[in-house]
Amino acid sequence: MHPPVPLGRTLSPERRTGVDPVTPTLGEHLAGQLQRLLHAADVTCPRAQDAVRLLPGLLGPAAGRPLDAGPASPSFVSDDHSPAELSVSFAADGAPTVRVLVEPGCTAGSVTDSGRTGLLALDRLATCWDFAAEPVDRVADLFLPPAARGPFSLWCAMDLRQGGPPGVKVYLNPEAHGGDSAAEVVEEALVRFGFRWAWRALMARAASWCPDRGRLLFFALDLGHWQEPRVKLYIAHQGFSVAEAEAVAGLLPGGRPRRVGDFCRTVGGGARCFDGLPLVSCLSFTRRDRERPSGHTLHVPVRDYARDDRVARDRAAAVLGARGGDAHPLDKALAAMTSRRLSDGVGLISYVSLARTTSGPPRVTVYLSPEAYAVHPPREQQRDTAAGGHG
Ligand code: TRP
Repeated sequence: MHPPVPLGRTLSPERRTGVDPVTPTLGEHLAGQLQRLLHAADVTCPRAQDAVRLLPGLLGPAAGRPLDAGPASPSFVSDDHSPAELSVSFAADGAPTVRVLVEPGCTAGSVTDSGRTGLLALDRLATCWDFAAEPVDRVADLFLPPAARGPFSLWCAMDLRQGGPPGVKVYLNPEAHGGDSAAEVVEEALVRFGFRWAWRALMARAASWCPDRGRLLFFALDLGHWQEPRVKLYIAHQGFSVAEAEAVAGLLPGGRPRRVGDFCRTVGGGARCFDGLPLVSCLSFTRRDRERPSGHTLHVPVRDYARDDRVARDRAAAVLGARGGDAHPLDKALAAMTSRRLSDGVGLISYVSLARTTSGPPRVTVYLSPEAYAVHPPREQQRDTAAGGHG
């Protein structure tokens, strides 16, 4: 059902390491990683345990497949086609949160069916945690049309916090009607949620890079229990420099975009230009401001700009350290994911992001590949860097 992977890297399925020798199923592998990650992050409440229990059901038939049978489809949630990704998010002032992103329709026969399966998965979460999935219905014709196109249809994520109710997020494909209609689709979706002016303001300020070097990657909605639910727009920036990423960060009122530039330089290891895997910005909108973003996140695809995961870990530790955090929880999280040596591969850490809002403290999030099907070997050649080499 999927055309070639548009963004993440594709790995050959035969390269398998780091997974224990008695072949588990995908469901067991992921539930084990999630369980250990929750433990590592001290997220021990019963509702987080619901997520571990629900996870195999969300993956559908893919969950029961032994890992050595390979991926059921070329999902691009993670580079090795694992239809899931985990992440740990750190704020200076509080306990970490754990998130898990899945593609429920990864075994569906068509993109359209994948969307239907995704909706059923959302309903299951809505029933378990008592929230309304209705906001998705408002834009179903835009993102889940009868003959949907593109590499995916609907992904969902669970955001698990100690003691608090879980947040649910849904990710939809702006290119469901084809790449040429993405801007129109997103504009209409924003209008339906009351953000007509936000789209106009964004287009006025982004004219130099959008759409040519700004691909509309995801339209995302917060569902369930959030203090302030967001409508989010993810944009991939092909060939952006640090200065250009900083300019996008400047769309957040009152923020300090320079800090985002520093973050980007550290995580990118001094890369001058992100001409491999793209930097991704996420702009979020809430009722608080109908015109300007209330949040901005920069995701740096560290896996394409570092020799190996030890280097990626050190950069993530550096950005946590710069914000007064310590690296111990990060190391516990990495150990929860894999027993392989970090220097033996690259891509366990897929992205490191910095999220800022107009209302709360910034967060650093480390995105983790389940490496269910493949471990990418360390990169032999470094990309060109301003510092003349790193790692
Ligand atoms: N693997 C895809 C990519 O790298 C999709 C994806 C997964 C993604 N997690 C993400 C994109 C976080 C941006 C941010 O693009």
